[in-house]
Amino acid sequence: MFGARCLLRALRSCSSAPCPRHRPAARVSVRGALGVQSANGERVKVQGWIRSIRSQKEVLFLHVNDGSSLESLQVVADSSFDSRELAFGSSVEVQGQLVKSPSKKQNVELKAEKIEVVGNCDAKAFPVKYKERHPLEYLRQYPHLRCRTNVLGSVLRVRSEATAAIHSFFKDSGFVHIHTPVITSNDCEGAGELFQVEPSSKIKVPEENFFNIPVFLTVSGQLHLEVMSGAFTQVFTFGPTFRAENSQSRRHLAEFYMVEAEISFLESLQDLMQVMESLFKTTAMTVLSNCPKDVELCHKFIAPGQKIRTYAKKQLSSWGADLHTEHEKYLVKHCGDIPVFVINYPLALKPFYMRDNEDGPQHTVAAVDLLVPGVGELFGGSLREERYHFLEQRLARLGLTEAYQWYLDLRRFGSVPHGGFGMGFERYLQCILGIDNIKDVIPFPRFTHSCLL
Ligand code: 4AD
Ligand code: MG
Repeated sequence: MFGARCLLRALRSCSSAPCPRHRPAARVSVRGALGVQSANGERVKVQGWIRSIRSQKEVLFLHVNDGSSLESLQVVADSSFDSRELAFGSSVEVQGQLVKSPSKKQNVELKAEKIEVVGNCDAKAFPVKYKERHPLEYLRQYPHLRCRTNVLGSVLRVRSEATAAIHSFFKDSGFVHIHTPVITSNDCEGAGELFQVEPSSKIKVPEENFFNIPVFLTVSGQLHLEVMSGAFTQVFTFGPTFRAENSQSRRHLAEFYMVEAEISFLESLQDLMQVMESLFKTTAMTVLSNCPKDVELCHKFIAPGQKIRTYAKKQLSSWGADLHTEHEKYLVKHCGDIPVFVINYPLALKPFYMRDNEDGPQHTVAAVDLLVPGVGELFGGSLREERYHFLEQRLARLGLTEAYQWYLDLRRFGSVPHGGFGMGFERYLQCILGIDNIKDVIPFPRFTHSCLL
């Protein structure tokens, strides 16, 4: 075992950098190369995939992309380099000099001295075709290849940037990140949309559960976060969540990512809504300013294709009935196509953990949903029932007292008013990028009847 000082010393002293005298051409990413302000013949090596190829009498133009940016790097080569292997989709390693480009389209270009084809691509069989803008539905058939298109490249870079922005938001706001478990024995939402987890072949005692009790893939990390908010005050988790919803809709997945936060000593929905709003605005601004070109591509090429839907123009719903997708869309439209908070839902519709507003005869709980244009429900949150006797009664009515004894304990040992929320990460991406179908904002979508790869 290392002591802290010893570990630091070891980390500083070891290095795998080559001896400076034998340093080869520096490997740069396409993004790095394009960012060079005044190129002056620096010798570099770029690795990536050919996105276009154009052969003229004496020169050959290639565009090479390595996923680091939407734009590709132009490689200019002598026509003697031309070969059948240099085809759309092939992977290449190019060495040469970074020079100022005479064209206005780009700042720099790479004057090739050596081009090596790393892997050939059979362009005829390759489902992604040169210069074609494939519909997103078509690309969905190829989850192993669609990341090589401009559009999926942009979406997935934004996804990565947004993940980092969300972590930064919470870190900057003093939240502690908690890894909540994926396997759990509770059904937090009580909706029964659970995937049960069992070993693929029965181990030793066939009639017994592996964990002694039935366990499931988590539908929400909330209850575990509530445990942690009893020690760290402000906590968050951001991980995969699973729901066995029999839905192929454009906003439901069986596996999606949820951003969840839990805050102790929080007493009003107003304060909770402020955190929700601030999370959304701060991270969206960061994403917009860090990847403007990727966002622009989505807005320019995808968003205009969205169908304009019509909404039921009638009384929204009778008191006590749940809001359906149509109602949510109508509300957002009615308010001028802006995000809308809906608060205080009927108690009977909501899970056991939400705080009773004690406002008979309607009898509501302190719940809040944030509805957004084009997507519907983006956030779901609430104040939690922190009063022992209220919670005990609710659990008893549902026959859950025994299973949730530990949860009741949280109300016995230093209970505090608290609240939290969950935001569907894919719906968030749909919202900021204007993407119609949730299956296009996650690398490998899982939904009823489909689990490719
Ligand atoms: O409203 P939900 O069910 O809330 C909870 O699970 C709370 N326990 C969260 C909390 O308070 N910590 O889910 C939260 C959000 C929804 O608003 C929606 O954006 C997203 O998760 N969501 C889904 N996203 C994609 N596919 C599904 N099947 C989803 N179900 C919920
Ligand atoms: Mg909800």
